[in-house]
Amino acid sequence: MVDQLTIEKILDAANIVDVVSEFVTLRRRGVNYVGLCPFHNEKTPSFYVSPSKGICKCFSCGKGGNAIHFLMEHEQMSFQDAAEWLANKYGIPFRKREMTDSEKALQNERESMFITNQFALDFFKDTLLNTEKGRAIGLAYFRKRGFRDDILDKFFLGYCPDEPDALARAALAKGYTKENLIKTGLCYERENDGQLRDRFHGRVIFPVHSISGKVVAFGGRIMSSDVKVAKYVNSPESVIYSKSRELYGLYQAKQAIVRKDRCFLVEGYADVISMYQSGVENVVASSGTSLTPGQIRLIHRFTNNITVLYDGDKAGIKASLRGIDMLLAEGMNVKVLLLPDGEDPDSFAQGRSATEFQKYIDTHQVDFIRFKVNLLMEDAADDPYSRSELIKSITQSISVIQDPIVRSVYITECSQIMKIDERLLINDVNRRQREQAQAAPQPQRQPQSSDENGQNQETPVAETENPEAPAEPVPEPEISAEDRLRQQVRALKREGFGPMMDKERLLSQLIVRYGGKVMGLFENEEGQEMPITVGQFIVQSLQNDGLELRHPVYRRFVEQMAEHVEEQDFNAEKFFMSHPETFVSLTAASLMEERYQLSAIFKDNKPVEDGQRLLQLTRHIMADYQMEVLRIEIKDVEKQMQDPATLESPDKLMELQRRYQQLLAARSELSRILGDRVVNL
Ligand code: CTP
Ligand code: MN
Repeated sequence: MVDQLTIEKILDAANIVDVVSEFVTLRRRGVNYVGLCPFHNEKTPSFYVSPSKGICKCFSCGKGGNAIHFLMEHEQMSFQDAAEWLANKYGIPFRKREMTDSEKALQNERESMFITNQFALDFFKDTLLNTEKGRAIGLAYFRKRGFRDDILDKFFLGYCPDEPDALARAALAKGYTKENLIKTGLCYERENDGQLRDRFHGRVIFPVHSISGKVVAFGGRIMSSDVKVAKYVNSPESVIYSKSRELYGLYQAKQAIVRKDRCFLVEGYADVISMYQSGVENVVASSGTSLTPGQIRLIHRFTNNITVLYDGDKAGIKASLRGIDMLLAEGMNVKVLLLPDGEDPDSFAQGRSATEFQKYIDTHQVDFIRFKVNLLMEDAADDPYSRSELIKSITQSISVIQDPIVRSVYITECSQIMKIDERLLINDVNRRQREQAQAAPQPQRQPQSSDENGQNQETPVAETENPEAPAEPVPEPEISAEDRLRQQVRALKREGFGPMMDKERLLSQLIVRYGGKVMGLFENEEGQEMPITVGQFIVQSLQNDGLELRHPVYRRFVEQMAEHVEEQDFNAEKFFMSHPETFVSLTAASLMEERYQLSAIFKDNKPVEDGQRLLQLTRHIMADYQMEVLRIEIKDVEKQMQDPATLESPDKLMELQRRYQQLLAARSELSRILGDRVVNL
């Protein structure tokens, strides 16, 4: 965890216009800046940046927040990483929570491996572009394959000299250790004499990046067509690289995946690069192995929609069908794009513009289950045995789909295509679901990719003989605090929380904007006049009435405010905007920019902080909230009084009537405050 003081410093230093401008072209409009929203496709700009408030917001899709939120959303970074990114940009010393010794050791080990890999990447790139052999062999090879220079750059492609230990020597000379060269797999020790040898020598290099852009591995391709040597050599598994948890190209593709809300899945390095080059940027590769659940979840962080690209090779397609069932099981919408015979994504993309490619996609992309039925139908024809195999295979795919509506749509459709009684399919799907439930009592959940700043301490999975084997099932992780909040808010909305939510929001808005501001004087028990802040007033009023806000995030504002009421010169705005609980800081940011201005409550548009106004405003909003609470309770008591069960119990009825009188009295008291002429709603 970063401490909050550091976050405050970072947000103070960060210029939101500056930060957003790194990713979005902004134009000045009045005191604000506008640009095309990076979070959805649009033609007219609705993305606003307010330098004075330090926040940005899309008025169309609603995304935005402060500089940290922007980076989290745009770069898909963690809160930590975004804060660190800004700290680096603005030269602020970045302090993290003290780590335990074993955490430190692991962190250091990982960090030094990343640094070694980064050195190797630079070395390979430099060799490719700036040495005679690199240019004559490596660069010539890439050019022959049609890769443009900007793409070589984007994917950090390189070349490793065809000498036994060029990288090893360069690295050792710069102080990188033999140990790290071996751990990263860049080098290995020759068996007979222990000499360091470069694993990738004489190959062009494809670096593999983690989501946040760290170099976790390399793939090296031989340029000759010598069949005796493996076409690709890849980094071995290590504490920073688990093949089954990375996807080639995701680092470059993630923004496009979010923007297009779809991910294309291909097999190899070359496919990713060629498609990216032709303008289809939302593409990743599983690097020759079948998809793993870990990889699927990586994609799922960015989108629900995936399109798997196939070349015409039937055997290859059939081999991969099982992997696709996993995508369905994860609740993804899967489509398939079959390329013309003899073409792979690489060859197909070469020489085609993005528009041409897109047109092909639009006309040829089909739903996976339909694709599978049709594919298998061709073989099954009239052979009863293959027909029953077909049915089994299809019901298997359908049975893993979680959504019952989607399942039933498929069942109906497949029964029509296959000309099979629908009930038969339903029975078979149900039976399979029962079997699956017994076989796997726990949903298969797996930790996320080896990313996020080395915070991830899983040990990498050893390379298995059978890459098809699903990873070990691990217990479902606890539902995150944020997910729980989201559920609570959804539940509140279902109950029709509407008018109350507005009142609670106004109170929260007061807290965030003016929590530490003195709103007036009040007399304490010793008869002394003491200043009272807006935050104190709200916290105390709620405490006096025994009230709690119902919206969990707004309630958190009050709780946090209560903890800081005694603080001199408490800067609520800063405090909440930089709050380490993301939902708090995000909500604070939105309360800061909310178009419904508090000052609009007054007839004239003078600033809220003039003289008595803050006092009037706060009292008014508090009274308004209390009125809503009363209204609900009055309604409730009225209902109870009319309940036949109550009518039979005189005690209960008396009690209710007494309460009712109290409530009505409280209501007229509140009406008086609310009726103050000063305020005009
Ligand atoms: N692969 C591998 N080792 C091999 C062959 C393939 O690791 N000996 C992986 C690589 O990640 C490769 C992917 O499987 O990118 C797909 O293989 P292939 O289609 O043969 O490679 P391409 O990427 O298409 O490479 P190229 O077009 O250069 O032949
Ligand atoms: Mn290829």
